[in-house]
Amino acid sequence: MDLACPHSSEGRSRERDAEARAILRGNDRGGYTVPTHGLYPYQWNWDSAFAALGFAEFDPDRALAELETLLSGQWQNGMVPHILFHEVSPGYFPGPDVWQSTGPLPSSGISQPPVAATVLRWLVDAHPAGGDRARAMVPKLAAWHRWFMERRSDGGAIFVTHPWETGRDNCPDWDAPFAAIEPEGIEAYWRRDTTHVDEAERPRRWDYDRYLHLVKLGADSGWDEEHLSRVSPFRVADPTMTFILLRATRDLAVLARRFDMPTDELDGWIAQLEAGAGRLWNPDIAAYDCLDLKSGAHSGVVSNASFLCWYAGLGCDRMLPHWDRIAGLARFGVPSTDPAHPAHEPRRYWRGPVWAMLNMLIARGLEEAGHADRAEALAANSREMIAAGGFAEYFDPRDGSPAGGRNFTWTAAVWLAWASETARGQ
Ligand code: SER
Repeated sequence: MDLACPHSSEGRSRERDAEARAILRGNDRGGYTVPTHGLYPYQWNWDSAFAALGFAEFDPDRALAELETLLSGQWQNGMVPHILFHEVSPGYFPGPDVWQSTGPLPSSGISQPPVAATVLRWLVDAHPAGGDRARAMVPKLAAWHRWFMERRSDGGAIFVTHPWETGRDNCPDWDAPFAAIEPEGIEAYWRRDTTHVDEAERPRRWDYDRYLHLVKLGADSGWDEEHLSRVSPFRVADPTMTFILLRATRDLAVLARRFDMPTDELDGWIAQLEAGAGRLWNPDIAAYDCLDLKSGAHSGVVSNASFLCWYAGLGCDRMLPHWDRIAGLARFGVPSTDPAHPAHEPRRYWRGPVWAMLNMLIARGLEEAGHADRAEALAANSREMIAAGGFAEYFDPRDGSPAGGRNFTWTAAVWLAWASETARGQ
């Protein structure tokens, strides 16, 4: 990553502002935003949180509506699903017929990184007028966080029962746990993702077989977490979930205090999550990584999620040597998998490409931890990448070339809220 001399294509950067707003408007389906037309035709959980942040730059009411619509799909047990199927679209697989969910709206049966409370806090900080609507969301967000703490906490380390929950679908952290799974009982299926995107930039068939095996296990159990905890072969504690939940709970506590609501429960969760985060430290590689609760083994992979430790509010400068090393290996950061790791693939989804929305969270954490120089270098590097490559889903760390879906909501959103010259000038 070019830390010393960020080349900014200034003219192009300004032109991108209007394009980013047009992408958000174009992906708006009325109260919710699709990540991109075609490839992802529904409402995705953390995509929506980033969309709200983008809308907040020019339409704060619409930003709040995005989060309200997301919470309208909340299950009775508090879980907020990773996909809400507001209307049927044959262009996506697996759809509601496969998930067989039990919530108020057709949905998936798993969750996703809970960025929403943090985004809500940022929205309220920037637009205090939305306070009443924000206040009404706090108990719902607390119920979601409670679901994580009661159902998905192993000593404060938050585990997932499906890789899709972390959003990092095919990162090498899942290779070992997936190798232990025999994907039995899945019917023949037709992937639609590879009709939209080059299959070399998507997960392999080997991964999909296992994704669908885990979905079937969940659907067959009626999404009964108690039952799944006994029968599921996949139970991995993950920095994406643990760090993002920790950060989001801190922000939820700030909101609760602001609205004169009790925070004892939230404060207790923060302490548990801080303890759990410590369990994700792998001394063998001197980094945070995933912990397979079935085998007891760490994944041994430095990922972009590892660098969310500052965002979580952990004093984690022991990660700086990896930061500086990886900055020297990739022209554009932050690669989703360490380029020095043998499983790194620069264009295949979460096995190497750069994801702008994680860059924003990482930079926010670095800045708060007193590393403003690194945070600013990452913003400049991301600005150059998006200005040249457009609003792609993800980017090749070698040259910043676009990959995956195009006209992508979260890349447009983080451009407006963080990477653009307009945002940096604010
Ligand atoms: N990311 C998954 C997909 O590609 C689902 O969340 O469909």
